[in-house]
Amino acid sequence: RIAYVNGRYVPHRDAAIHIEDRGYQFADGVYEVCEVARGNLMDMTRHLDRLDRSLRELRIGWPMHRSALVMVMREVVTRNGVTNGLVYVQVTRGVASRDFVFPDKTVPAVVVTAKKVDPALAARRAETGIKVITLPESRWDRVDIKSVGLLPNVLAKQAAKEAGAQEAWFVDAEGNVKEGGSSNAWIITKDGCLVTRPAEHGILRGITRTTLFEVAAKLGLKIEERGFSVDEAKAAREAFISSATTIAMPVVEVDGSPIANGHPGSVVQSLRQAFFDVAE
Ligand code: PDD
Repeated sequence: RIAYVNGRYVPHRDAAIHIEDRGYQFADGVYEVCEVARGNLMDMTRHLDRLDRSLRELRIGWPMHRSALVMVMREVVTRNGVTNGLVYVQVTRGVASRDFVFPDKTVPAVVVTAKKVDPALAARRAETGIKVITLPESRWDRVDIKSVGLLPNVLAKQAAKEAGAQEAWFVDAEGNVKEGGSSNAWIITKDGCLVTRPAEHGILRGITRTTLFEVAAKLGLKIEERGFSVDEAKAAREAFISSATTIAMPVVEVDGSPIANGHPGSVVQSLRQAFFDVAE
């Protein structure tokens, strides 16, 4: 495997970042995960726009011209022979002697990696669906920034694993579901309406989420952007999560309660299928 690190393509096993990189010391950096499907980088413009927003919010400069980054991403995909899989891009504020305040001069550090993922794995998982647990929100209130500070997400997803589930949903003080540790959360009501939390309220604006709005429109499905409670999720007709790695993945159990008959529903399956016709 080959990785891109600060201007060089290097063997993945030798790829390294300096010990005083601020990403390492302070999680002072941002990232993107893009899906590669049939050799195409999906939703690139949206991912780059979100990266731009994350960088701006943290006042980190672009490590290179946007079009150069696209070339690097394509090159890493090609060099790793990835037809289906993921590209990971990380930009940190760079290397400086440890000090909380921004250093006067740093050069942003950039890492791009890619890996193959067998699409049959996700397809098989979508046939059975996944289980989620719910946990009180424990993250900071700027989760709209795709920062590499992911410790609460790590702990939540580990708790999910230990409970025999695959994702953890963060719940706000009002009892409404926010999003998963690495995905957005959705339900489908009894009358077939898609419900997901507004992106302005304490969640990451998922690229897959945005694309699914277009997919839903094509399929003639109604979407309501509003909060939903854990109880509403348990009583829903269907539930699912969305992310670059899962697309639309059926949720069949919330905190041990089955959704409907405990099997993936038809609406999420059709969204999943239609996704690849809409995304580019
Ligand atoms: N996670 N919410 C959170 C907290 C996420 O970490 C992610 C993505 C999403 C979905 O965003 P998108 O549809 O753009 O992937 C929502 C990525 C996949 C990750 O950290 O691996």
